Amino acid sequence: MALELKTDIADRISLISVSSTMKVAADAEKLRAQGVDVVDFGAGEPDFPTPENIKQAAIRAIEQNFTKYTGAGGTLELKQAVCDRHAKDFGTAYKPAECIISVGGKHVIFNLTQALVNPGDEVIIPVPYWVTYKDVVSYAGGKCVFVETDEQNGFTLTAAMIEPYLTAKTRIILINSPSNPSGAVLDRDEFEKIYRLTSRRGIYLLTDECYSHFLYEGTPFSVASLPGAKDTVLVAGTLSKTYAMTGWRVGFGLVPAAIAGAMLKLQSHSTSNPSSISQKAGVEALRGPQDSVQVMLAEYRKRRDFVVRRLREIPGVKCAEPKGAFYAYPNIGVALGKRGIQNTLQFSEKLLAEAHVAVVPGEAFGTSQHVRISYATSMHELERGVERIHRFIAEL
Ligand SMILES: Cc1ncc(COP(=O)(O)O)c(C=O)c1O
Repeated sequence: MALELKTDIADRISLISVSSTMKVAADAEKLRAQGVDVVDFGAGEPDFPTPENIKQAAIRAIEQNFTKYTGAGGTLELKQAVCDRHAKDFGTAYKPAECIISVGGKHVIFNLTQALVNPGDEVIIPVPYWVTYKDVVSYAGGKCVFVETDEQNGFTLTAAMIEPYLTAKTRIILINSPSNPSGAVLDRDEFEKIYRLTSRRGIYLLTDECYSHFLYEGTPFSVASLPGAKDTVLVAGTLSKTYAMTGWRVGFGLVPAAIAGAMLKLQSHSTSNPSSISQKAGVEALRGPQDSVQVMLAEYRKRRDFVVRRLREIPGVKCAEPKGAFYAYPNIGVALGKRGIQNTLQFSEKLLAEAHVAVVPGEAFGTSQHVRISYATSMHELERGVERIHRFIAEL
């Protein structure tokens, strides 16, 4: 008798969906495989190669047979390098016991939410938000509480916007500054005010510092540097963007030791340690010369200025100026309702199919009139792509 296989999927998987940024990449890849010349503004990753000194450190790690398991939460050497770099860049004072190394920043945020959010707990997420936040909170059984920001003010957040949403169930406020997808940067005073709102009530302030080094004005800031902040501030960091290391998969959490322990428990039964080789590369990234970061930032600034100027030249398109990260988030509401385009997903699909430009629909980030353009690509591609978008919208 044939064995009957049960193929229905566990309920908790239905709480989440495939990351839309990855879907766009897959659709663009399909077209490219058919020989179509696609301009790709979808990918949220630096087009720069990983700096040479970092690559060499990885090669040395292999040659020296540093190719075995490490501690599940990362090597002491890398944890210390993370703490030292964070202290140097932001004036914090973390110890390795308060640090965990995970498989990218995404993994850190996943582990953190799984470790802290109980069913019914509320997590405050400003809109527009990075796609993953919503899904990891839902996966933990938590409730996302979205706080709208104002496009007219460049999507910037204030403490006053957050305060009305605080309840007895609020567990975490999740801030990403500079923001993916809007490039908005939270004003330092407002960050401090939000910190005070949270610490007073024993709410965690999770700060996703993924783009903290890519700031076009002012100096990088970490809310974890405020006196006493280490008790309730949770830092999620990554080497992915700062050092053009997206494929190496090294992220870090700087959190109270008890929380690091809870995250380690989960990690020890899932991924175990991030690649030993990547960890050696990470030590070099954090301890070695830092000039490549400034070189990339200068290039991103040039690209931002170009893209924003050209997008604003498209009739009816508005674009807030990104103050950090490497994304523009133009409002393409002018195209909605034309040629059957009902929403930004349909806009993005048509744009890809007809003009061969990949962008990410704003619905993925919680807004209904925008698309995300990653300008972490060459000036040549930016010129070609924005020209195509201009023509596409003008001819609708
Ligand atoms: C806001 C934000 N946080 C975290 C990450 C995580 O990056 P990774 O998992 O590559 O470290 C990303 C990547 O796109 C991001 O945009």
